[in-house]
Amino acid sequence: MRTVSIGVLGAGTVGAGVLSVLQRKGDRISRSLGATIQIRGVLVRNLTKSRSDDFDNGLLTTDVERILGDASIDVVVELLGGEEPARTYIERALRAGKHVVTANKEVIAKHGYELLRIAADRGVNLFFEASVGGGIPVIRVLRRDLVVNDISQIQAIINGTTNFILSEMEAGRDYAGALKQAQALGYAEADPKNDVEAIDAAYKLAILSTLAFRTDVRPDRIHRVGITALDEKDFRYAREMGYVVKLVATARQIGDTIEANVHPTLLPAEHHLASVKGVFNAVLVDGDEVDKLVLYGRGAGAQPTSSAVLADVCAIVQDIVYGVAEPIQFPERQLEIRDFGDTEARFYLRLLVADEPGVLAQIARVLGDGGISIASCIQKEADADARVAEIVIMTHAARQSAMTDALSVIAHLSCTRQISASIRVDR
Ligand SMILES: NC(=O)c1ccc[n+]([C@@H]2O[C@H](COP(=O)([O-])OP(=O)(O)OC[C@H]3O[C@@H](n4cnc5c(N)ncnc54)[C@H](OP(=O)(O)O)[C@@H]3O)[C@@H](O)[C@H]2O)c1
Repeated sequence: MRTVSIGVLGAGTVGAGVLSVLQRKGDRISRSLGATIQIRGVLVRNLTKSRSDDFDNGLLTTDVERILGDASIDVVVELLGGEEPARTYIERALRAGKHVVTANKEVIAKHGYELLRIAADRGVNLFFEASVGGGIPVIRVLRRDLVVNDISQIQAIINGTTNFILSEMEAGRDYAGALKQAQALGYAEADPKNDVEAIDAAYKLAILSTLAFRTDVRPDRIHRVGITALDEKDFRYAREMGYVVKLVATARQIGDTIEANVHPTLLPAEHHLASVKGVFNAVLVDGDEVDKLVLYGRGAGAQPTSSAVLADVCAIVQDIVYGVAEPIQFPERQLEIRDFGDTEARFYLRLLVADEPGVLAQIARVLGDGGISIASCIQKEADADARVAEIVIMTHAARQSAMTDALSVIAHLSCTRQISASIRVDR
C-alpha cells in the first residue's frame, strides 16, 4: 500500500484533534483510501508544554525545517493560526512542491488568491475546507457541488462565539454576562475582539463570497459591525414583533455588483437562520438551479474542525495515489463591491425622546426628508418623572447612507435624548 507522508504545523486545539483522529482511525482511513498516512513531524512552539497522549509526542519539533525541508513530506497541514509565520510557511511548502491543507481563515481571506496561483504554478493543491464553518462542508460544496449554479445570495451565521452570546442575550442576559459565560465555557477567548467585532466573520465571508461569486472579495472590502453595542432589550422588542437578532454575514449579487457585509440583523422568526442557536453555524445559499440550500453544523471545536481538515487531507491522498486532481478555480471576473452606504435595508430604530406632543412628527419629518418611510412606530416605555419616552420605529427599505444622515440629524433634535439602537432588518 502506498504511503503518503504529512507534516503538521501546530498541535493546539485543531492540530491535536487531527493527530488524535489519525491515531484512532488511521487503519480505517487507510483501508478506505488504499494508502497509509504517515506523520513525519509536528511543529510546536513549546516542547515542554503538557499535551494529550492521544498521539506520539516524539514527533514534536520546534524546527520548521524538519518539515518544510524534508523532501519526503508530500502534504503540509497548517494549523498554527494567525497571519505570520503561517502565510510564509504555506508559501514555502507550496514552492517546495508540497500540497497544503489549512484551517487558517485569515491567511486564505487575505492571501488566498496569491497562494492559489503559486499552487497552480507548482501543480499542487491548496485546500482550506476548515477555514469556514468548522465541521460544515461548505467550501467543497461551493467549489464543486454547486458548480452549475449562479448564486444570488449567501446569508450565514459563521461565528459560533457571537452566536452563543446572542443566544444568551435572547434568553435575557446582558452582553457582559453573556460574554463572561462564553469565556467560562471556552467559547470566547480572553481577548474576544476578533469574534465580537466581527473580524473573524468578515474573513470567512470574504472566502465564501470569492467562491460563490467567482470574484475577488478581500476582507477589507467587507463592512463589519460587531455585537458589543447590542442591548438585551432589543432582543425582547424584536421578539414581540416576530424577529430574532443574529450576527449575519450576507453577500449578494445585485446586477454587476456585490454587496458583502457582516452586522447584527433582525431576521423574521421563521427565517432558516433564526433557529440556529448557541455555538452552531449555518450557511444559507441561494442558487438558481438548486434553490435554497442550508448547511448547518458545528462551526468550531477540535473534532468537527479535524473532520474538515482530514477530509482535505484524504482528497489530496486520493489525488496523489489515483491522480484525480481537482482543478484550482480562480476568480474569473471582477465585480464591483458596493460601498456600505449604497446598500439598502429596512431598519429597526430605538430612540429615547422627550415625552411631549409633536416629537413623532419631528422625527418622521427628518426620516421623510431622507426618503425613508416609517412602516410602524410603537411607544414602548415612558418615564413620566423624567418626561422621556422610548419609541421603536420600523422603516421600509432605505439606503444606508440616507439612514446614517437622518440619524445624525435626529441626534441633534432638541427632543432626542438618545439613539439607543439602529439595526438592519433582513428577510
Ligand atoms: N479552534 C477551533 O475550533 C478552530 C475552528 C476552525 C478553524 N480553526 C483554525 O485552526 C487554526 C488553529 O487553531 P487552534 O485553535 O488549534 O490554535 P491553537 O490552539 O492556538 O494552536 C496553535 C498551535 O500552533 C503552534 N504554534 C503557533 N505559532 C507557532 C509558531 N510561530 N511556531 C511554532 N508553533 C506555533 C502552537 O504551539 P504550542 O502548542 O507550543 O503553543 C499550537 O500547538 C487557526 O487558523 C484557527 O483559526 C480553529
